[in-house]
Amino acid sequence: MEMRVLWLLLFAGSMAQEDMDRNVFLFPSRSVADYVVLTPMVTGPLLKLTVCLRSYIEGGRYALLTVDPRESRIRNTFVILQDISYYPQPQLFTSSIYINNTQVPIRAKADPLGWIHRCVTWDSNTGVLQLWVNGKVSPRTVLKKGFSIDLQDGISLGQIRRYYGWDPETSFKGEITDVHMWNEVLPPDNIWQVLLNNRDFNGNVISWRSLNYTINGDVTVQPKLQCRYGSESGSSHSQCSME
Ligand SMILES: *[C@@H]1O[C@H](CO)[C@@H](O)[C@H](O)[C@H]1NC(C)=O
Ligand SMILES: *[C@@H]1O[C@H](CO)[C@@H](O)[C@H](O)[C@H]1NC(C)=O
Repeated sequence: MEMRVLWLLLFAGSMAQEDMDRNVFLFPSRSVADYVVLTPMVTGPLLKLTVCLRSYIEGGRYALLTVDPRESRIRNTFVILQDISYYPQPQLFTSSIYINNTQVPIRAKADPLGWIHRCVTWDSNTGVLQLWVNGKVSPRTVLKKGFSIDLQDGISLGQIRRYYGWDPETSFKGEITDVHMWNEVLPPDNIWQVLLNNRDFNGNVISWRSLNYTINGDVTVQPKLQCRYGSESGSSHSQCSME
């Protein structure tokens, strides 16, 4: 009964918000045509934020999430990018965070061939930036104190902007899921609950469990093959039950 009501609500309009808990976005190939635009529930400039998402990709340089006012000359307002590691250790890779077009590369350790869960927090008052990878925080850094992040033109998954448009060298290929954004800095305990995919922890700016999104190109919504998280690497192989 409850399920039926839920389905009716979901199909009430094509713009309806969707519970994506059991789903991922699958980006089939590196193409500037493929991206997903997320509409935030809160617009206006953010002075604090937390962004969390899970991705599964082969090694390489891939854009995960971009906040970028389309009509503005400011590029890379806020970007999370999986970068190439210039170090020989296979378990070490670099995440690059951009704020106001300034990049900081941060190294972290994770199994590259597994789901990687990232959370980035930033506070404009201090500029302190945290990167959490699979529940482990890297040394904090300070970036763009006093800046504010404008969400007005939405948030894109899978691309990063260059002068001429999306950058074909960083177009995303792989899977993205569990995207949440808050307009505050989450404490470590909450970051851990988000990593475990606790249903009670949902972003107030973007919530994966009530997502307003527009797909461009060949991106598709696919069922999750793994639903439980929390082993050492942040990914386990339990199947998703459909009860
Ligand atoms: C989803 O976002 C669009 C803008 O991209 C907006 O027009 C629409 O009202 C939003 N839908 C809901 C249910 O919030
Ligand atoms: C953000 O970038 C713009 C353009 O480069 C610059 O004018 C502005 O001072 C920067 N803001 C901060 C807080 O760094």
